[in-house]
Amino acid sequence: MMPNDTNLSRRGLFMKLGMLFNGVVAAALAVPIGRFLLSSITRGRANGYLDWVSLGSVNQFPEGETRLATFRNPLVMPTDGKTVDTACWVRRVEGDQFQVFAVNCAHLGCPVRWFPQSGLFMCPCHGGAYYRDGSRASGPPERGLFEYPYKVENGLITIQAGEMPTPGPNASLNRKEPPCACSRA
Ligand code: FES
Repeated sequence: MMPNDTNLSRRGLFMKLGMLFNGVVAAALAVPIGRFLLSSITRGRANGYLDWVSLGSVNQFPEGETRLATFRNPLVMPTDGKTVDTACWVRRVEGDQFQVFAVNCAHLGCPVRWFPQSGLFMCPCHGGAYYRDGSRASGPPERGLFEYPYKVENGLITIQAGEMPTPGPNASLNRKEPPCACSRA
């Protein structure tokens, strides 16, 4: 065999090895990319990222008061452990009229606390404050608290939960600001 033939066959072998390597890498990347693309399609479906979960009987929430409640996040990963137990603030305005607020501050997500004496939700991180109806009172947050859609049936209150409430495109958790301070009860 001539030296040139040896070079050519070696080059061909390296080319085939390179193509094989590229194929393996492409296959390895295809799985997570495919899952990511599919997740954007399944997002928002029941039993997916959003689902209705019960907070229990309405009787545990006295009228005119705001109480902390917890629910099991319907979006569960095997490694989540206790972090699937999610807190929310439940305000029973009157009768079956409620407001259910995400516990996370609308600024950077720190958990807010309710202070009935002052009628304010306060954020310990940067001093954000919200009125009892969740609208912004002061501080860095640019908006009010996020609200969960809720419904009351057979004496039970359920909320639609799953995705983390953020200022993103998930409009179902984005609350509208009241038109003026006069609506704050
Ligand atoms: S995270 Fe609440 S004010 Fe910054």
